[in-house]
Amino acid sequence: MDGGKKFLWQGVIRHYREYLPIKKDDCIVTLLEGNTPLIPSRRLAAEIGKNTEIFFKFEGLNPTGSFKDRGMTVAISRAKEEGASAVICASTGNTSASAAAYAARAGMKAIVLIPEGKIALGKLSQAMMHGALVVQLEGNFDEALEIVRALGEKYKVEIVNSINPYRIEGQKTASFEICDVLGQPPDQHFLPVGNAGNITAYWKGYKEYNAKGKTKSLPHMNGFQAEGSAPIVRGYPIKNPETLATAIRIGNPASWKSAEAARDESEGVIDMVSDDEIVKAYKYLGRNVGIFCEPASAASVAGLFKMKEKGARFDGQKIVCTLTGHGLKDPDNAIKFSEPTLKLPAKIDTVVNALQLEKR
Ligand code: F0G
Repeated sequence: MDGGKKFLWQGVIRHYREYLPIKKDDCIVTLLEGNTPLIPSRRLAAEIGKNTEIFFKFEGLNPTGSFKDRGMTVAISRAKEEGASAVICASTGNTSASAAAYAARAGMKAIVLIPEGKIALGKLSQAMMHGALVVQLEGNFDEALEIVRALGEKYKVEIVNSINPYRIEGQKTASFEICDVLGQPPDQHFLPVGNAGNITAYWKGYKEYNAKGKTKSLPHMNGFQAEGSAPIVRGYPIKNPETLATAIRIGNPASWKSAEAARDESEGVIDMVSDDEIVKAYKYLGRNVGIFCEPASAASVAGLFKMKEKGARFDGQKIVCTLTGHGLKDPDNAIKFSEPTLKLPAKIDTVVNALQLEKR
């Protein structure tokens, strides 16, 4: 081990300072995000190929339960450097939870616009608990983002959506961590695509490490949208996007072009998966891997299954799937797609009968 030497994780800005645009140390707003585990799964690897290795970058273990914290620490720290007192975002839930938490930490006001009735319960509770001003908009994410853009232009409020370049800067640190742990990038990287900021950020991170000479290869970037919300795959904006994976219920992604660039430069794919395929992967992860992620996160694994079914070969390759958010964010879907619980009277005989355990 390290001979008893203490290793203190200080968050992504301090750890990757030379790659990030934050200058003033006293303006760093952090909840010690990042340093999330890269969890291997031999079981899935054996299903996918011969001598294949698979790792899950479990971003649900960030302070607010999603990858958004990586970008938010940079965006809010930068807003603090610039003397901002209020931030605003449109969100399908995770960005609003993260913005609310980091704004609370910084002593700033947070305003979040979310599509009414279309965000997971845990995410709504987070934004409320952190004291954000929560606006439930009678519209979808794309409409909310349009309003946020207009407000940010005219009023004294910093936009902390991923159209803010500092969000992308922070999110690229996930690639750095993967390379630091594996020694090199994986051969294949799978992740869900919504507003397309994350695929943009990962690709930027991989390329920066490569340009610095820290790594010698680059992965293929494989992004997956939900079938009912797949504008990049279809090639046109979707007016009324639908999917049970509400985190990626987006019809006109802000980082559309840079997601296509990541796909093309890396010789990867952007494809779509159905809600049924997402649920299948979501349950597989819970039951066979022991990781509880939210439905949108499972789109990465659904995409891997789909590519394998279509005949792609991954023998001998290293694969990383990003699981973007924690399953506890969305208790309604977890319960909906699980076996019902047993309800029994508090009587030993009835319990014994129902459980059918073997005698010692
Ligand atoms: N997975 C989860 C859990 C998300 O919350 C998001 C996006 C994505 C994947 C897709 O990432 O947008 O960078 O392509 N959530 C945003 C939000 C839109 O408002 O929380 P992306």
